[in-house]
Amino acid sequence: MILPIVAYGTPVLREETKEIDENHPDLNLLLEDMFETMYASKGVGLAAPQIGLPLRIFIVDASGFNEDDEHPELADFKRVFINPIIVEESGKEWKFEEGCLSIPGIREDVSRQPNVVIEYYNEKFELIEETIDGIAARVIQHEYDHIEGVLFTDKINPLRKRLIKGKLNDIAKGNIKVNYRMKFPLVKAKH
Ligand code: CO
Repeated sequence: MILPIVAYGTPVLREETKEIDENHPDLNLLLEDMFETMYASKGVGLAAPQIGLPLRIFIVDASGFNEDDEHPELADFKRVFINPIIVEESGKEWKFEEGCLSIPGIREDVSRQPNVVIEYYNEKFELIEETIDGIAARVIQHEYDHIEGVLFTDKINPLRKRLIKGKLNDIAKGNIKVNYRMKFPLVKAKH
């Protein structure tokens, strides 16, 4: 089932998230819905808070970055991250333009370190430690930020932030065009 993605300004995007256990009810269905929702919106990552759940889960499928075959390492980069912990980040910070399904229409440069060591449970609840670099690491850092209540717009320079303030308000009010299902915090439910 395709779920609505909550927009910038929705409190759950800033909430503290909870770890889940192996017996979490309907976990497989939840993950299935998350993938379906992510694909329907053409995203490369989706975190549980973005569908309104304050849980420590995110999914990624960065194979879309390999459409031009220039990033073969991303061709099979599809993962489920449950209760993840970024154990280490290293390397010289690099800039890359990021976007977010909860913040449609805005893309800004964000600086992050290129190398990540992450520990997490996969969809079978196997504990995994993985070292990930480059764009894949960036996708993970962006999604990990979501379960820490952080958005990429928090990390851009103050001038750019001031320039996009009006756009962010428009997103919260739903005054934007978007071609996937969303829920906006400042739009009252229709009666
Ligand atoms: Co995002």
